Amino acid sequence: MKNSFDIGPSRNQVQAHRGASAVAPENTLAAFRAAAEQGALWVELDVALLGDNTLVVIHDDSVDRTTSGQGSLGDLTAGDIASLDAGSWFDPKFSGERLPTLEQVIGVLGELGLSANVEIKQHKHHKSLAHLVHAVQAAIVGRGSKTEIMISSFDPEALKAMHVLEPGLEMAMLWSSPPPDWEELLKAIPSKTIHLNYKALSIGFLEETTRKDIKVRAWTSNNPSELISFWGAGLAGVITDNPKLFLE
Ligand code: G3P
Ligand code: CA
Repeated sequence: MKNSFDIGPSRNQVQAHRGASAVAPENTLAAFRAAAEQGALWVELDVALLGDNTLVVIHDDSVDRTTSGQGSLGDLTAGDIASLDAGSWFDPKFSGERLPTLEQVIGVLGELGLSANVEIKQHKHHKSLAHLVHAVQAAIVGRGSKTEIMISSFDPEALKAMHVLEPGLEMAMLWSSPPPDWEELLKAIPSKTIHLNYKALSIGFLEETTRKDIKVRAWTSNNPSELISFWGAGLAGVITDNPKLFLE
């Protein structure tokens, strides 16, 4: 139980990075279920297109690191990935986890009462931004009433295109550190949210963004003590592999 001396995020400010990826294979249904078990309300996940325009939840541009298969996403189809094991690389007890589509994940998040920060990855094999953003829109349209969606990306063009399709959604610009012209870049999307590498946070930047009504969340921190001084300066949230650490 929190008391007035605790400095930390509220439950709504904690997002499980690729699900609870410290305890389950990233970007799988198991990782999203683990996030819910840890008490998270939000998950962050990554999306990309296969060669046949199926929108899947995966971080890399190939299946090599996180599945039993091999190959670039652009050379694979839904049929190719259907039988890949996306859990054993992490721990044999997760054998049989599949590489999910965003549509499948949205369905499970609805059952779990979770909301999602959908990070649009822009990979070289993506032939068209229009295909990518329309696939995201098609997948999120079936979300349950308790599933809130926000979009994030390192690619401002993806956020701009998504904003045209879904002007009501929060769009978060991802930066490793704020570029000198960050304010103009944000206005062009338009967005009032920055997701920043926690190593680039400063009290001064948070005070300025808070004054300008711009939200800043930090990625990817797995140590609550490294953010402790930032909550009082207006930090709006954290993206973490281990939500339990920030929720207890
Ligand atoms: O949401 C921020 C974070 O997920 C960005 O980095 O490489 O883990 O997708 P990455
Ligand atoms: Ca991500």
